[in-house]
Amino acid sequence: MPGMRAVQVPRAGGPFEIVERPMPEPGAGLIRIKVQACGVCHSDSVTKDGLFPGIQYPRVPGHEVVGTVDQPGAGVSGWTPGERVGVGWNGGYCGHCNSCRRGDFFACETATYVTGLTSDGGYAEYMLARPEALARVPAELASADAAPLMCAGVTTFNCLRNTGARAGETVAVLGLGGLGHLGVQYAAKMGFKTVAIARGQDKEALAKTLGAWRYIDTLTQDPAAELLKLGGAKVILATVTAADAMAAVLGGLAVNGTLMIVGAVPTLQVPALQMLLQQQSVKGWYSGISIDSQDTLEFSVLSGVRSMNEVFPLEKVNEAYERMMNGKARFRVVLTMES
Ligand SMILES: NC(=O)c1ccc[n+]([C@@H]2O[C@H](COP(=O)([O-])OP(=O)(O)OC[C@H]3O[C@@H](n4cnc5c(N)ncnc54)[C@H](OP(=O)(O)O)[C@@H]3O)[C@@H](O)[C@H]2O)c1
Ligand SMILES: [Zn+2]
Repeated sequence: MPGMRAVQVPRAGGPFEIVERPMPEPGAGLIRIKVQACGVCHSDSVTKDGLFPGIQYPRVPGHEVVGTVDQPGAGVSGWTPGERVGVGWNGGYCGHCNSCRRGDFFACETATYVTGLTSDGGYAEYMLARPEALARVPAELASADAAPLMCAGVTTFNCLRNTGARAGETVAVLGLGGLGHLGVQYAAKMGFKTVAIARGQDKEALAKTLGAWRYIDTLTQDPAAELLKLGGAKVILATVTAADAMAAVLGGLAVNGTLMIVGAVPTLQVPALQMLLQQQSVKGWYSGISIDSQDTLEFSVLSGVRSMNEVFPLEKVNEAYERMMNGKARFRVVLTMES
């Protein structure tokens, strides 16, 4: 059986290992994808550090995947070898059972392929996915440009379009990493008065280039007070990895405003009385299913939203991951399989 290069995590908290592995065989109902590019998402730390119960190791991380259909397994129709596809976390949520319709993707009976978590992901030359999980990548997008849209993109786009905020209202994006820099662009293109909130002055010019109307530097300004000066935020899209940074913006919500949590923080303290008096809410958002990814790709082509990427070959996975984890990447790191 021919082999392939892959990056695996041998155990929870273990190092990345660059290994030669057998090529995965697509069983019935699965498709083998020849990976071209895979974004490095902060959520890959869940796999790397074993932050989710029941992950089996060794495991190949990576859930921002773009590649070509290599081999459809038995019973798979409608997908042609060579066709360019993208896959995100939802490697196997069917998207149409009762649980999925409720948005309860973790209860999907067919969710046996949670990419990079319960099944091997895109830090490899080949991977398997269920056809229901695939989106078709428009010709206008290079593979490395499309890859981050499969998680960072769909999470922020799909969240923003489901908040109920209307064009002209103020939407703040907290955090300017992989998700945040896309969130700023989507919010601006959707017609919101977009406020970017991040640490330090160095990101201000970039935020404005991405379409931000205002920039708040949390190192020198109180973000809640600054948001209130702007009339309060109808929505705050919180992409940061720190709960205290989220707590610090809650006072900047407008009446009826909502903090949308997409950054994975375990707990968050909320100002309950303020929220009661001003009818505010805090809501979590999980990325989306394949049709949401499809919409994200097409909206990005239509509106010119692009991920700003630093591209590394697969072998440089440690360097790539470190740049993401220590916040140095501007703004998304993408691995490519070219050797
Ligand atoms: N809901 C979902 O479906 C979903 C999907 C994908 C990812 N996620 C989660 O979303 C979060 C962001 O992912 P990502 O890939 O965008 O990560 P990332 O590229 O590492 O960006 C994280 C950003 O958070 C900022 N940050 C961290 N601590 C902060 C603090 N105390 N104050 C202000 N900013 C702070 C960092 O700012 P600096 O640059 O200043 O350090 C960085 O820009 C992660 O928790 C990830 O697990 C959730
Ligand atoms: Zn992700």
